Amino acid sequence: MPITRDDVTEHFRMRAATYDRSSSWCTDQGLGEIVLDLGAPAPDARVLDVACGTGLVSRLFSGRVAEVVGLDLTAEMAEQAAPFLDRLVVAPAEKLPFDDGEFDLVVCRQGMQFMDLPDAVEEMVRVVRPGGRVVLVNLCAYGPHDRDTYFEILRLRNPVRRHFFLPEEPAELLRAAGCDPVRTRRHVSAEDVDVWSDNGAIGQERREAIRAAYRGATEEFRSLHAVREAAGRIVDHMLFVVAAGTKPAASGGGAGEEPHATAK
Ligand SMILES: C[S@@+](CC[C@H](N)C(=O)[O-])C[C@H]1O[C@@H](n2cnc3c(N)ncnc32)[C@H](O)[C@@H]1O
Repeated sequence: MPITRDDVTEHFRMRAATYDRSSSWCTDQGLGEIVLDLGAPAPDARVLDVACGTGLVSRLFSGRVAEVVGLDLTAEMAEQAAPFLDRLVVAPAEKLPFDDGEFDLVVCRQGMQFMDLPDAVEEMVRVVRPGGRVVLVNLCAYGPHDRDTYFEILRLRNPVRRHFFLPEEPAELLRAAGCDPVRTRRHVSAEDVDVWSDNGAIGQERREAIRAAYRGATEEFRSLHAVREAAGRIVDHMLFVVAAGTKPAASGGGAGEEPHATAK
């Protein structure tokens, strides 16, 4: 059966109360700094956080820019973001209720795996102004040698996930939607698999299947993910790719011109 938007909102409704402590990456300062660095918002910037969830990304921008707008499908997640937002919109990312070029920066962390693609990325690029940026932040497999096992682990942990990514794919989506240039950075997050799999939306059977997948993984997988086991706990070093694409400036300006972005 295809995964519906109702399936997604039901999943995140179950996770809303404990979401912020369900992964160490949620509040990982190093990852947040990369997002700020690649987003490079000026103090007068208008920022849109797509799939804002509980506002963990929105709060990075809150107080640093002129306006932060959060958008999400799941009200129970998004209402926790409200203190960090100037405006909260409950709507699907595939049909953003904003005008073309309304934002200087659009950010989407760990959201596009649930969305219609490439439609959602095209929408993000549409609502950013020429010269502005779209920043995508996603967990990715390291490559062909861990892909199958890792995608299965991610699917077990989140049954409403629709897409799985290799490191080059977020940048490819931005390029296909018209961004140029596109820059990427990598970040590795150490996750205690027992904490990470205890997300409030899956049962013991799936959590045990995740543990079994790690224990049965190939040496290549274990090496790429630097899997560590101690006192019955498994730690995985998971790869994040942060891809930042610039929407080319309108004719009359040079490609990549970014009048509102702080030079880095
Ligand atoms: C894993 S959480 C990420 C939350 C936040 N960006 C963060 O990094 O902590 C995924 C969020 O995506 C939202 N979401 C899923 N599909 C969506 C869609 N099509 N449009 C808007 N939001 C969506 C969910 O409701 C959920 O809050």
